[in-house]
Amino acid sequence: MPIVASHCPQHRFVIVDINEARIAAWQSDKLPIYEPGLDEIVKKTLGKNLFFSTDVNKHISEADIIFVSVNTPTKVFGEGAGRAADLQYWEKTARQILENSITSKIVVEKSTLPVRTAEAMERILNSNGNGLHFDVLSNPEFLAEGTAVRDMEEPDRVLIGGRTTESGQRAVQTLVELYANWVPRERIITANLWSSELSKLVANAFLAQRISSINSISALCEKTEADVSEVAHAIGLDNRIGKYFLRSSVGFGGSCFKKDILNLVYLCEHYGLPEVARYWEQVVKMNEYQEMRFVSKMVSSMFNTVAGKRIALFGAAFKANTNDTRESPALEVCRALLEERADIVITDPQAMDNARHDLGELAKRVTFEADPYAAAKEAHAIAILTEWTQFKELDYEKIYNSMIKPAFIFDGRNLIDHKKLYQLGFNVYPIGKPALTHLQSH
Ligand code: UGA
Repeated sequence: MPIVASHCPQHRFVIVDINEARIAAWQSDKLPIYEPGLDEIVKKTLGKNLFFSTDVNKHISEADIIFVSVNTPTKVFGEGAGRAADLQYWEKTARQILENSITSKIVVEKSTLPVRTAEAMERILNSNGNGLHFDVLSNPEFLAEGTAVRDMEEPDRVLIGGRTTESGQRAVQTLVELYANWVPRERIITANLWSSELSKLVANAFLAQRISSINSISALCEKTEADVSEVAHAIGLDNRIGKYFLRSSVGFGGSCFKKDILNLVYLCEHYGLPEVARYWEQVVKMNEYQEMRFVSKMVSSMFNTVAGKRIALFGAAFKANTNDTRESPALEVCRALLEERADIVITDPQAMDNARHDLGELAKRVTFEADPYAAAKEAHAIAILTEWTQFKELDYEKIYNSMIKPAFIFDGRNLIDHKKLYQLGFNVYPIGKPALTHLQSH
């Protein structure tokens, strides 16, 4: 929203949240999230046409357009637990909008929601007897963490879904005009409400599917001496396949992919399409397999035991340039290694606080070390789990010299020059490529 505000000085934007600490943080020098480039934009607009407030009711009442981006976590109870989206916060918000409205409004779904959620929202909002009218639009967010500013400034497309009624189409046009302040018109596409809601889930499912596909091939590469990067490069040059999202890794993480696919799976089951549900479910299963395959490889390479061995995890964030650790493969690897009774040290330039929080009780068994050199000191192994450029630039000779021998490095992101590491003395285990080891095989 700060980016929208920066392009639309003629409009006033107020971001509301009931969490006082968060609202205070947004107005301080340390924003509550780490996102490259965002600080400057907030600074530029704050107090001019961008405001933050905890007075939710007042600002509902004053607004013409309300963007709702409340949480839609996976349900942990009742029907659909573990797969369906928990819509309680959305419904509460709809009721709160209704209670505090004295004028008609446009309500925009920004959160990722199951198909036909807008219908329920419309029913609640238009159940008033006071002549107010609410148009519900779907305007899914496609930005990725770490590149959020660029993705908002130059989106591949903006998608706006609305009803085909006259008032629905008027509302769609209002939102089109807002985006047209900086997005070329041909990139603003409109659709019916249900297509728009579904497109968000499907976009994430397709992206995640590409990662699971290349990761499945990485397992085969490790058995056949093929190199997954070479395979990805070769297939990616085919325009029909395309080169993006083919980086094999320890697995995908983040708050969206798994949640959205499970949501899609649940919808398919709900609509009596079990074969379609199983198809998409496999994308999540392949991801879990990849994470556990990585851990098994660590354990088997280190002579079938890591108990009591110091292992440095380079990275906790689910990807580089974010402090977000939600569904991070790094934490999955950490949990599995703790099960094996390894002695774990985590280092990450941004995500240590979130890692500590997400690990809960287990955090007590982990050492957090800001300095990667100190983390690797006297370690038996390093596992690279987040592709931070900082990890690329380290002096691996110095690191090698400080480690217990034989020294192992498991590169879950294929980040570092493997030959060079091998020449330094490391036993190197990349993803989807032959291992480079000094150990005698028997
Ligand atoms: C993802 C989508 O890319 C966004 O378009 C979408 O708006 C967002 O979810 C959302 O629904 O909010 P995000 O989760 O921030 O964005 O991050 P991605 O860049 O998609 O990466 C997700 C995971 O896949 C990361 O763990 C990343 O390391 C991994 N990944 C990505 C790979 O392992 N290989 C790749 O080639 C690409």
